[in-house]
Amino acid sequence: MSLDVKPLDKFGAEIAGIDISQKLDASVVDAIRAAIDIHGVLVFRNAAPLSDSQQIAFAGGFGPLQHLSMIKMLGGGATRLDHTELIDVSNLDETGKIVGADDRRRHFHDANLLWHTDVSFDANRAVYSILSARILPPAGGDTDFADMRGAYAALTDKRKAELDGLEVEHSIWYSRALGGFTAVSEDEMATRPPARHGLVSANPRTGTKALYLASHASHIIGWPEDESRALLDELIDYATEDRFFYGHVWQPGDVVMWDNQTTMHRATEFDSLTHVRDMRRVTTLEREMVR
Ligand SMILES: [Fe+2]
Repeated sequence: MSLDVKPLDKFGAEIAGIDISQKLDASVVDAIRAAIDIHGVLVFRNAAPLSDSQQIAFAGGFGPLQHLSMIKMLGGGATRLDHTELIDVSNLDETGKIVGADDRRRHFHDANLLWHTDVSFDANRAVYSILSARILPPAGGDTDFADMRGAYAALTDKRKAELDGLEVEHSIWYSRALGGFTAVSEDEMATRPPARHGLVSANPRTGTKALYLASHASHIIGWPEDESRALLDELIDYATEDRFFYGHVWQPGDVVMWDNQTTMHRATEFDSLTHVRDMRRVTTLEREMVR
């Protein structure tokens, strides 16, 4: 199998010529890894959606997987999906019905409309997210991406020097509050303490630097609150300008894989009280997760 890599307009690439529902040779996994190091976002157009186990097997080729139980916790222990590696980013409850207007799980997902980087709120950062479209709404519910590597590269040398070395605190509860989700218990907060990361991140394989930003980013360590907020907001506005932008319009069966350390993303609105959007994510991490 050879990898057919078609670069998209500004960044990202569509990958053809391989069947990711099947076990991949190590050489193909290496070629995908090399492609994502260059392009940041990879689009696989599949004739049919992957099964849960196929999606998990594909992701497992790229690193240790995240097992997350946030939605299970918020849903009172109930979960729709059997595999702990699958993050349920649908608008469905554990029975497969659209979650109600007041359901906590709905409001927990509202912050996905903000520009973010998956799992930046954890010390063990996400590397790749692999998102599979199972059922799509008739309009909206797309995913926008921004190229954090391109944004860093376009900064002046003076600006790069000012930003290199700054440390940022990230908290999922900060982004949730921005999204309007504030009714969080102390016990729930304790499950996800904040984490600190550099504002500039370097790809461990290529050394290429990128801005590491997210709606989870609450403040710059050691800076006054207003200056810290102003810089983070300024950088997010700058890094999501049209020149660094790719908007993915989903087709059923699509799998999109992105590097969380070189991109940001956000979901777009859709009529989520009427239409189903069933998306499932598997995420690779920098290190094995302690469970
Ligand atoms: Fe996300």
